Amino acid sequence: MVELMLLKLWLGIFLLDIISLSSKAGGAFVGVNVGTDLSNLPSATDVVAILRAHQITHVRLFDADAHMLTALSDTGIEVIVSVTNEEVLGIGQSPSTAAAWVNKNVAAFLPGTNITAIAVGSEVLSTIPHAAPILVPAMNYLHKALVASNLNDQVKVSTPQSMDIIPKPFPPSTAAFNSSWNSTIFQMLQFLKNTNSYYMLNAYPYFGYVDSNGIFPIEYALFQPLSAVKEIVDPNTLFHYDSMFDAMVDAAYNSISAFNLSGIPIVVTETGWPWLGDSHEPDATIQNAETFNNNLIRRVSNDSGPPSQPGFPINTYIYELFNEDKRPGPLSERNYGIFFPNGTAVYPISLISASGSSVGGNSSGVFCVVRPDADTEKLQNGLNWACGQGGANCTAIQTGQPCYFPDSLQNHASYAYNDYYQRMHLIGGTCDFNGSAILTSQDPSYGSCIFMGSSNSSSGNLFPPPAAGPVGPSSWGSRLEAFGSSGFLFILCLPLFMCNVNVFKFLYL
Ligand SMILES: *[C@@H]1O[C@H](CO)[C@@H](O)[C@H](O)[C@H]1NC(C)=O
Ligand SMILES: *[C@@H]1O[C@H](CO)[C@@H](O)[C@H](O)[C@H]1NC(C)=O
Ligand SMILES: *[C@@H]1O[C@H](CO)[C@@H](O)[C@H](O)[C@H]1NC(C)=O
Ligand SMILES: *[C@@H]1O[C@H](CO)[C@@H](O)[C@H](O)[C@H]1NC(C)=O
Ligand SMILES: *[C@@H]1O[C@H](CO)[C@@H](O)[C@H](O)[C@H]1NC(C)=O
Ligand SMILES: *[C@@H]1O[C@H](CO)[C@@H](O)[C@H](O)[C@H]1NC(C)=O
Ligand SMILES: *[C@@H]1O[C@H](CO)[C@@H](O)[C@H](O)[C@H]1NC(C)=O
Ligand SMILES: *[C@@H]1O[C@H](CO)[C@@H](O)[C@H](O)[C@H]1NC(C)=O
Ligand SMILES: *[C@@H]1O[C@H](CO)[C@@H](O)[C@H](O)[C@H]1NC(C)=O
Ligand SMILES: *[C@@H]1O[C@H](CO)[C@@H](O)[C@H](O)[C@H]1NC(C)=O
Repeated sequence: MVELMLLKLWLGIFLLDIISLSSKAGGAFVGVNVGTDLSNLPSATDVVAILRAHQITHVRLFDADAHMLTALSDTGIEVIVSVTNEEVLGIGQSPSTAAAWVNKNVAAFLPGTNITAIAVGSEVLSTIPHAAPILVPAMNYLHKALVASNLNDQVKVSTPQSMDIIPKPFPPSTAAFNSSWNSTIFQMLQFLKNTNSYYMLNAYPYFGYVDSNGIFPIEYALFQPLSAVKEIVDPNTLFHYDSMFDAMVDAAYNSISAFNLSGIPIVVTETGWPWLGDSHEPDATIQNAETFNNNLIRRVSNDSGPPSQPGFPINTYIYELFNEDKRPGPLSERNYGIFFPNGTAVYPISLISASGSSVGGNSSGVFCVVRPDADTEKLQNGLNWACGQGGANCTAIQTGQPCYFPDSLQNHASYAYNDYYQRMHLIGGTCDFNGSAILTSQDPSYGSCIFMGSSNSSSGNLFPPPAAGPVGPSSWGSRLEAFGSSGFLFILCLPLFMCNVNVFKFLYL
């Protein structure tokens, strides 16, 4: 029975993969927000060293700090700089202030520092609504200054907005911007369209989940598989929503579409999950944060868009690099960081995009595997370290994945050591693991278990994992089983919830 379900699982994944290989949209990325409101902030050089060690390719700064922009030069990292909310008013009232801002904070650092966008303010409409009338003028003046410097092709101008300006995001098909902002948003969208820019969205399933008072299952917020009875379907479009993240992005796309301006992509400039909160914030745990962010990376890296816009990958910036202990508000506000200031990950996380084009993905023809005579204690420690702080992608050695068999410490450690080494050797990672590892030119790949660095690994990820890390394949097996055995779907939407937070309906198979 178990084997049968596994077979179905594998077949299912294989079919999905054929589809994904033929429709690859070209590499969605996951970047990171770099907030600096912390008491023991490392130097700009150290921050950039941490970014590079974890192969982070895209960052958003909340200002345009000269030290950071200098340290980021010649790194290949793409940078969004920000006009702070304090600066927006001045810039929106004066083209010359805007031009001076662009010269000092953008033009001065190009081309060495790859600044690709200016984010104008942070959630201006919901945090400083009195500035709404000058928001689009500020964007315009900045854009004109870029045009004057001939930088408008490489540097886009946009403005991150929170989900708060979409009062009823669920179901996505009926979502709309708060009509108080109609005219500002219309001007903003016209600007984005005319300048080939994109909509910047800050979307937190954490708040969507917490504010829904238990109406949504937490699995939905964490990108985990939903049991058949809890599948979430938009009653108007019949789109299935695997995650609240997808639903939020679609809510924004639908809100935009009411203005008849098509083709403006959405980039998620902030999302994340706090790993510590006070007694009123029981969902802010390390376990949930780890699950959310790792599943988010998998979700974004699969390159597909949300159900209503499958062709627009959802480029996303995680909030945030470090905990910002000086920020006000509840304890959770100060605990979104994914790394400590010493560069250690708070929990295992790998930002290396699953699209296979990571910065260090240089196929060297050399592999790092276990030493035949290594003792098991060292191997266990090495395996734990590689899959944890080392940032190796150990998905392939989990139960049901292609490198799980042979189920031995030696095999699993070899896979993990090599994955770590291939990612890190260009930036100083070694093949040592306390003497338990050795380099070899012999490709250890076998069957469908492809080791990174193998000439066969360029074919992509033949067996992408199910959407959720911690959940074993059996739940997927049973879900596919449910589809398979019924032959076709009975769709029976029951209006379980009609509160003003959402009117989602659950699908019963
Ligand atoms: C990519 O993610 C979306 C949303 O979870 C999912 O519907 C889709 O099947 C995934 N595609 C692949 C090829 O895994
Ligand atoms: C900067 O980023 C853009 C956008 O991805 C890219 O096309 C360009 O090649 C990058 N420039 C440099 C100098 O790396
Ligand atoms: C819409 O925005 C206005 C102005 O900020 C606010 O007073 C109102 O409560 C908002 N409406 C909804 C439904 O959120
Ligand atoms: C703007 O606001 C009005 C109500 O004031 C509403 O009827 C309209 O649909 C809104 N949206 C757009 C896109 O104009
Ligand atoms: C969008 O187009 C539809 C159909 O052409 C029209 O009814 C609607 O008024 C338009 N909305 C706006 C905001 O222009
Ligand atoms: C990094 O900092 C964290 C938190 O302060 C600490 O727990 C960890 O041991 C440190 N790691 C190293 C290698 O110093
Ligand atoms: C890998 O890197 C080495 C040294 O940096 C270089 O000589 C080699 O050409 C690279 N190989 C590939 C496939 O890019
Ligand atoms: C390396 O192995 C030795 C035993 O050979 C052990 O005492 C030491 O703690 C190990 N170091 C690490 C970092 O695991
Ligand atoms: C790579 O793929 C080819 C053709 O599919 C196969 O013959 C070869 O054995 C594979 N090499 C490894 C190391 O798996
Ligand atoms: C980890 O590896 C699996 C294949 O084993 C791949 O499908 C997945 O996308 C990778 N995840 C990340 C975050 O690179």
